[in-house]
Amino acid sequence: MKIAIGNDHVGIELKAITIEFLKSLGHEVVDYGAQTTERTDYPIYGKKVGEEVAKGNVDCGILICGTGVGISLAANKVKGVRAVVCSEPYTAQLSKQHNNTNILAFGSRVVGSELAKMIIKTWLDAEFEGGRHANRVNMLREIEEAYLC
Ligand code: RB5
Repeated sequence: MKIAIGNDHVGIELKAITIEFLKSLGHEVVDYGAQTTERTDYPIYGKKVGEEVAKGNVDCGILICGTGVGISLAANKVKGVRAVVCSEPYTAQLSKQHNNTNILAFGSRVVGSELAKMIIKTWLDAEFEGGRHANRVNMLREIEEAYLC
């Protein structure tokens, strides 16, 4: 898969580990994240990765900030994005199976690198189940249509 990655200054170290891990799984990674630990603003990277995913330029996205919260909120403002913040694999799996999430976010101050790898692998391996869940994802789209111009 082609995966866009984004991070703020707090996510730098875990980003490097994540890229190496994704490549070891055979994925192509496009890095849109901050490249130094100089203080920066997470919305820049959440927006960029959200746009790349929404435009279909990549298959999915991964975002890292201190908690995963701010950067996922930014991505979720982009029409077509369904970003989830995870600190354990169960939510990662169900977020794909039921919610068809297209961006995974986690916090470098919350999860260690091995747990992050477990979350990533679980999320990438999981598949959207469709059926009744497709109706609900369509309902999310309707909310977007009503409120995101
Ligand atoms: C930066 O200090 C921190 O606020 C950011 O990385 C993130 O945790 C925000 O949600």
